[in-house]
Amino acid sequence: MTSLIGILCLLSALTATSVGLSCISCFSLDATSCTGDSLTCTSKNLCGSTYTENLVGGNITRSYNRGCLPSSECNLKGGISTNQGRIRSIISCCDTDNCSSSIPILPPFNNDLNGVVCPSCVSSNSTGCNPSETIKCKGDEKVCFTQTIKHGSTVITYIRGCTTRSVCDFASREGSPLEGEFVCMSGVSSLQQNLILLCSLILYYCTASIKW
Ligand SMILES: *[C@@H]1O[C@H](CO)[C@@H](O)[C@H](O)[C@H]1NC(C)=O
Ligand SMILES: *[C@@H]1O[C@H](CO)[C@@H](O)[C@H](O)[C@H]1NC(C)=O
Ligand SMILES: *[C@@H]1O[C@H](CO)[C@@H](O)[C@H](O)[C@H]1NC(C)=O
Repeated sequence: MTSLIGILCLLSALTATSVGLSCISCFSLDATSCTGDSLTCTSKNLCGSTYTENLVGGNITRSYNRGCLPSSECNLKGGISTNQGRIRSIISCCDTDNCSSSIPILPPFNNDLNGVVCPSCVSSNSTGCNPSETIKCKGDEKVCFTQTIKHGSTVITYIRGCTTRSVCDFASREGSPLEGEFVCMSGVSSLQQNLILLCSLILYYCTASIKW
C-alpha cells in the first residue's frame, strides 16, 4: 500500500513537471515577501524570487519579485554601479507549486576599491560619456559595461559603469531579460598588463547583444 502511494506521488510529480509548475507572480517595494496570482510556467521554468537593492544618494530602495524563471537564472548574484548609484540583485528558486524560496541575506554594499576604473555615465538620447566621467570600481565589480537601450534606431538610454562577471555571463545568455545591448570589457587599472591578457577572455565571455 505504501509503495502504491509512493508510485502515485511520483507519477503526479512527473505530470506536474511536464505541464509546468504553478508559481506566484508578484512585485513589492521594501519587502522581502509578496503574494499575487498563480501562473502556470513552461516546463523548463522554476519558481524564482528576485531581491534587489538600489542605492542612490545614500538611500537604499529594496524590491522583491516572484515569478516563473528559467533554471539557468537561479542562483544569480550580481551588481552594477554607475556614478549615479548602485544596484545589486540575488535570485533564488524553488521547484514545487506556488513555493516561495527563501532569499539569502546580502552582505552590506562592498565599498573596497578594487583598482579597476571604468567610464561612467547615465545619459538620455545619446551614446558616449564625457571622458572625464569615470568611476572607481568596488568589491567584485571588476568589469566595465556599456548598456545601450534603443527604441527603434533611437538611443533612449546609455549607461556605463562597473559590474560583476556574473552579470556579464547573465547578459550573454540566450533570452536574457536585461534590456537593450549589454557589453562588458576590461577596465583600466594599475595592473594593466594582467588586464590586457584578461581583456580578450572578457571580451570572449562577455560581449553580448541582447534584443527583447
Ligand atoms: C496556487 O495558488 C493559487 C492561488 O493562490 C491556487 O488557486 C492554486 O490552487 C495553487 N496551486 C497549487 C498547485 O497549489
Ligand atoms: C534620501 O532620503 C531622504 C529622506 O527620505 C530624502 O530627503 C532625500 O531626498 C533622499 N535622497 C535621494 C538622493 O533620493
Ligand atoms: C530625448 O528625446 C525625446 C524625443 O526626441 C525628447 O522628448 C526628450 O525630451 C529627450 N530627453 C532628453 C533628456 O534630452
